[in-house]
Amino acid sequence: MDSLRICGGRRLNGKFNVQGSKNAVLPILAAAYLQDGCCIIENCPRIADVFTAAEILEELGAKTSLKENTMIVDTTGASGCEISDRVMGKMRSSVMFLGAILNRMGCAKISRPGGCDLGPRPVDIHVRSLEKLGVRISAQQGYLYCKAEEYLPSVLTLIFPSVGATENVMLYCAKQKGETLIINAAREPEIVDLQNFLNQMGADIRGAGSDVIRIRGVEKLHGCTYAVMPDRIAAATYALSCTACGGDILMENAESGHMRIVLSVLEDMGAEVLADEGLRIKMNHRPKAVEMIKTLPYPGFPTDVQPILTACLTCAEGTTVISETMFENRYKYAEELIRMGADVTIDGRSAVVRGRNKLQGAAVQATDLRGGAALVLAGLCADGESTVQHIGYIDRGYEAIEKVLASLGGNIQRRT
Ligand code: EPZ
Repeated sequence: MDSLRICGGRRLNGKFNVQGSKNAVLPILAAAYLQDGCCIIENCPRIADVFTAAEILEELGAKTSLKENTMIVDTTGASGCEISDRVMGKMRSSVMFLGAILNRMGCAKISRPGGCDLGPRPVDIHVRSLEKLGVRISAQQGYLYCKAEEYLPSVLTLIFPSVGATENVMLYCAKQKGETLIINAAREPEIVDLQNFLNQMGADIRGAGSDVIRIRGVEKLHGCTYAVMPDRIAAATYALSCTACGGDILMENAESGHMRIVLSVLEDMGAEVLADEGLRIKMNHRPKAVEMIKTLPYPGFPTDVQPILTACLTCAEGTTVISETMFENRYKYAEELIRMGADVTIDGRSAVVRGRNKLQGAAVQATDLRGGAALVLAGLCADGESTVQHIGYIDRGYEAIEKVLASLGGNIQRRT
């Protein structure tokens, strides 16, 4: 299993383009199954979750090819409606293929997506929404057997603005006869990207980015070419790395409009944020702690940035209380930070982070995707050498994280 070797203490300086968004490209790849032809997806990140999504499409009978950061998906004649346990187990968000498979094939069989590192990760909102739209779903021996009966255009009110459930409904309703409304829809920028991609394929969807999405079903969808939005969580990761280590970085293609609350917290921590051309972060002193952080659905503070911010706060001046409202178990990485000398106390969904002058380098293990990125940041600003193991988690969502950080002056290498 690969690991990363990091020697801390270097400032980060330079400019680069941040990768395409993992959480936008995954539902877009699922959406490609709604048409019978070719989609060309540009700015596609070369990450493990994309390779897994390509595996799913190939299992369904489509052909995929990824050249540099352009993915071509040819679904001509594909007729699969099942995703194997092997692949389902690799990626929780495989569940968002459900809406697309049901729409194309009228039936689907998937294993219940495994409980992930973050908690049970139920799919009840997905199931209830699809059932209201006329899909018959039965859960047997760990599988979901789904059959699309007559489509029932509906007004769906989600009990929680679930990103995945919003996406599944958009995928299922895009090519139908009739209009469906989603009330209390998730508002993430990745939902807007999915709407834009679907409309590029000929769909008629409005309202993404707000809490009401209107989907006017169309008869047919066609292939298209589309460039995926930049990854706001990866951008936040590099911005926080610069805030922790000091330096001056410019992400030329970052969309600061997707990151307002994160940028406001960076400024409260003492970073200089320049967002007129791309996103520039300058930091020349020890970060200051912020009093309280509460993760919330977009546009609130993103849960995916919580671990990375916590790592930065371990070296800040002062104490921060963090409340993780989105997932039950998103502090597994904290134990590893404590091995590096961090002062973090976890109590259920809350964490108290008391800033220390310096962490000490250590051998640590990634526990999940964003927790792994948090350990990389900690290694970059610690005294001495760190090794981060189980970096397969990190490779699920970051394209060549060590190359980006090394290009900015970080002393970091991959060990295979
Ligand atoms: C998406 O996951 C993202 N993944 C996650 O990013 C992100 O943390 C999450 O949205 C919240 O923003 C992708 O887009 C691929 P949810 P998703 O459905 O769709 C509960 C990362 O690090 N819930 O909005 O799974 C659920 O348990 C990943 O990039 C139900 O109770 O998130 C959780 O507590 C991690 N029933 C909360 O809602 C359901 O049917 C948010 O889940 C569905 C969700």
